[in-house]
Amino acid sequence: MSEKITIKQVLELKGKRKITMLTAYDYPLGSLVDQAGIDMILVGDSLANVVLGLDSTTKVGMNEMIIFAKAVTRAVKHALVVGDMPFESYQVNPQESVKNAKRFIEEAKCDCVKLEWFDKCPEVTEAIIKSGIPVMAHIGLTPQTADKLGGFKVQGKDAGAAQKLIDQAVALEKLGCFAVVLECVPDKISGLITKKLNIPTIGIGAGVDCDGQVLVIHDMVGLFQRYTPKFVKKYIDLSAMILEAVKNYRDDVIDSKFPAAEHTFSIKKEELEKLGK
Ligand code: KIV
Repeated sequence: MSEKITIKQVLELKGKRKITMLTAYDYPLGSLVDQAGIDMILVGDSLANVVLGLDSTTKVGMNEMIIFAKAVTRAVKHALVVGDMPFESYQVNPQESVKNAKRFIEEAKCDCVKLEWFDKCPEVTEAIIKSGIPVMAHIGLTPQTADKLGGFKVQGKDAGAAQKLIDQAVALEKLGCFAVVLECVPDKISGLITKKLNIPTIGIGAGVDCDGQVLVIHDMVGLFQRYTPKFVKKYIDLSAMILEAVKNYRDDVIDSKFPAAEHTFSIKKEELEKLGK
């Protein structure tokens, strides 16, 4: 795989070819996603759900995110790594947000950060960008504040709500964000936003007209059994495969079929005889 992809290269992909992005939270999956040639890897706060088994992304903090982000950046050679700023790491004030964004870059070696829209998003985004850290924005369904949006629902379904999303996207581009994630947005509205912006849009549940797509890796490989959103395409059912493998191992151990000779270390007969055995 070629050298590390840059933000400039991501920007240049708009209108040329679709941009690919997946989440990863650890070394093995970070390495596999990178080897597959995915452009951007998001160390998403979705790890709260799919790795830690929590019921909300609001339940992970900076220290946990940094541990997972470090594991991913250790593995990645090509993809742009995006550190997802967790709940309350950027909502408190712009100074605190810059401090936390810097941790993703300096400690975890991420290339940029992502943050979700909230009422003070523009001032916080501006402060982080001014500090020299590239920002990917996230609008539409923003899971950290889903309760304020009426739950996990498609956003921008009427003209007024859609116009708000368009205005947010335009404002974030003006502030200097290099990309915008659109989550759970009607395809026609994503299409309008994508046409209006010079920066790429990355969709999740936002239709095919976005400049790129992102999915949570545990969803697309079938590793998360609790629920599967409508917008997910499952490319493989790893849960079923792992379950079968683990059951086979269990049976083999009970039946003394594992370990077999090829998994076993031996001692020379004469050495054994010295023990009187
Ligand atoms: O945390 C995450 O995985 C995300 C994606 C859903 C975009 O924010």
